[in-house]
Amino acid sequence: MQVTVYNCRSFDEKPLFMKYAEELGLKLVLCEDAPSLDNVSLCEGSRCVNVITSKVDARLMQAFRNHGVEYVTTRTIGYDHLDLEAAEACGIKVGNAPYGPNGVADYTVMLILMSIRRMGAILGRSALQDYTLAGLNGRELKDLTVGVIGTGRIGATVVGNLSGFGCRILAYDLYEKEELKQYAEYVPLDRIWSDADVITLHTPLTEENYHLIGADTIARMKDGVVIVNTARGALIDSGALIEAVESGKIGAAGLDVVENEFGLYYYDHKADILKNRELALLRSFPNVIVSHHMAFYTKNYVETVVRDSLTSCRLYMEGKKNPWEVN
Ligand code: NAI
Repeated sequence: MQVTVYNCRSFDEKPLFMKYAEELGLKLVLCEDAPSLDNVSLCEGSRCVNVITSKVDARLMQAFRNHGVEYVTTRTIGYDHLDLEAAEACGIKVGNAPYGPNGVADYTVMLILMSIRRMGAILGRSALQDYTLAGLNGRELKDLTVGVIGTGRIGATVVGNLSGFGCRILAYDLYEKEELKQYAEYVPLDRIWSDADVITLHTPLTEENYHLIGADTIARMKDGVVIVNTARGALIDSGALIEAVESGKIGAAGLDVVENEFGLYYYDHKADILKNRELALLRSFPNVIVSHHMAFYTKNYVETVVRDSLTSCRLYMEGKKNPWEVN
């Protein structure tokens, strides 16, 4: 039973792939590159292919099929990078590998705390041996109202995490969760804008909520509001965010995701001239923390997606019930 694995990171995924392949009795073909028409022949002899976030369009899907592939699994929760219609049309089954919400939820609370305690500026000064206090006065979470937008798996975990800090929690979602009402008050979106000192985003990006935070919504927020985004960059209009940081309307921001990050993150660009002015400006502000879309990245995450994606290949090839199949 052979599986071809693309985008296999040698520094953390490879040892786990070897370990689980042995346990599951699978033979692996490992490739560090993204799948493409140039390296599709590596699938010869594999009924299953294992990918990560790289696009698999209709041509590549058909090329997989031409090489005998029957099942494509992705080591991610989302599978919008895989052309499902094309998969269906050529008879390929698709699977995903969901992982727990705690990594992103923990990271979110960290960004909230770092933002209200001015940790970006503190670390910057400390690196230069500047041990002064002026301008570094922080706020305590117990005195603040946090607005959580989106209370799905991650947002709900953030609410649970925050409940220990004694802050007031407001929540907004299209669907309310009864079990969260002991910690958070569900309110209309308008109330989040007007009442929250900290706003954190946890919805998927859709056509309706593209630029959910923009000039109009920022104008309705409290002065000095803190914005945290570990969801998707395009939920925030970067231009409006920059203007509001410059004017002081936004007091701080913690951004694990930014607009137009695709193709930028996870590569070493030290020597490159970057074509993302918004990112360059946001990185320059002492009250804005930018990280490269890595809130998910924990040991637990890597182990889970490698193990489950390989297990799903094994189940598929044995013709057994496969809980990770999505089509
Ligand atoms: P989920 O599907 O469990 O929850 C999303 C929630 O958003 C649902 O409760 C849904 O009803 C709500 N929602 C959808 N549209 C909405 C709208 N227009 N207004 C209000 N609520 C709306 O998703 P999950 O797993 O909690 O992920 C949340 C976000 O986190 C997603 O954007 C996902 O892409 C992102 N994410 C980021 C990661 C990172 O490393 N930074 C890693 C994993 C997910």
